[in-house]
Amino acid sequence: MAKSVITFAVAFIAVVVATDFDDSIIENINRAQNTWKAGKNEITDKGIEYMKSLLGTKIPENLHTQPRRTDVEIKENIPTSFDARKQWPRCLSIGSIKNQGKCGSCWAVAAAGAVSDRLCISSGFKVVVNISAENLLACCSDCTDPGERGCDGGYPEKAWNYFKSTGLVTGGDYNSGEGCQPYEIEPTNEEVSENEENYYTPPCQKKCTNKKYGVSFVKDKHYGKTSYLLDKSETAIQSDILKYGPVEAAFTVYYDFYFYTSGIYKQTSTFKLGGHAVRVIGWGVENGIKYWIVANSWGRRWGENGTFRIRRGTNECGFEEYVTAGLIKN
Ligand SMILES: *[C@@H]1O[C@H](CO)[C@@H](O)[C@H](O)[C@H]1NC(C)=O
Ligand SMILES: *[C@@H]1O[C@H](CO)[C@@H](O)[C@H](O)[C@H]1NC(C)=O
Repeated sequence: MAKSVITFAVAFIAVVVATDFDDSIIENINRAQNTWKAGKNEITDKGIEYMKSLLGTKIPENLHTQPRRTDVEIKENIPTSFDARKQWPRCLSIGSIKNQGKCGSCWAVAAAGAVSDRLCISSGFKVVVNISAENLLACCSDCTDPGERGCDGGYPEKAWNYFKSTGLVTGGDYNSGEGCQPYEIEPTNEEVSENEENYYTPPCQKKCTNKKYGVSFVKDKHYGKTSYLLDKSETAIQSDILKYGPVEAAFTVYYDFYFYTSGIYKQTSTFKLGGHAVRVIGWGVENGIKYWIVANSWGRRWGENGTFRIRRGTNECGFEEYVTAGLIKN
């Protein structure tokens, strides 16, 4: 009882402080540019510690010397706008928006999402599943820094390597009862207190945690054929998406990004918080400004129904230099 009163009081104070702080921040962002709108939202209301906990993507120091896939066939007639949700409407995963909860699992959620999309596309719409972010998050020890676990953050290209070498089982959202290993971390909402117990990486399990799922762990695995880092090139990224489906992009998050509510994001803040990974599902142009369409993993109530748009062709916040994907082993 006493503990919950204290937790409530602390949460209340945190919200008040964060709210006071945010108002001038929001005005400043909206004054500094005119392509996107900043506002308070579910994520910013939870305060800076929660906001930081979501950034789980490590950006390697040697990124610029890493081998890249250079044999992407660059398409000649790249359309001015493209939306993978409309191109492949039978692949439900493309339009789905995940909620990573209080865990730096964006690297795994984005990879598992793009794998699901690509499985559906490459199978000619026969394999329509959600690949388990849980499986990747909990089991890929190579994906993280030594001594850390999945919720502390991971490297997207290693996630694709793991899909190729070890494979991944299916698994839907928290409480979905879907697939072999559904996501176990609760999507936090206003009622959940911000204590440390909410922030842990589930243990790696080599069996289906969903007892009602009728397929064995081994039989449920899907594998990749290749994994790669794309060239830092707008057309290489577009060509890969056109041919195979959504990709994973990682970029640097500055403080202003959290306050995004709509429009085409470009950086206004210089306060760097960390790396974040997302799924790129298309592109377009609005009022002469080119953008990428991106699925975030902060739930549907953030941004444009869970997605955001970010300036394209300018490597905004490093968005075009750390794009990873892989092909499916059919
Ligand atoms: C996957 O999960 C999403 C919710 O995130 C759901 O809408 C969809 O029906 C699920 N199943 C498939 C096969 O995409
Ligand atoms: C978000 O979803 C609502 C309800 O489905 C829809 O009216 C609105 O146009 C969507 N917004 C965007 C930016 O897609």
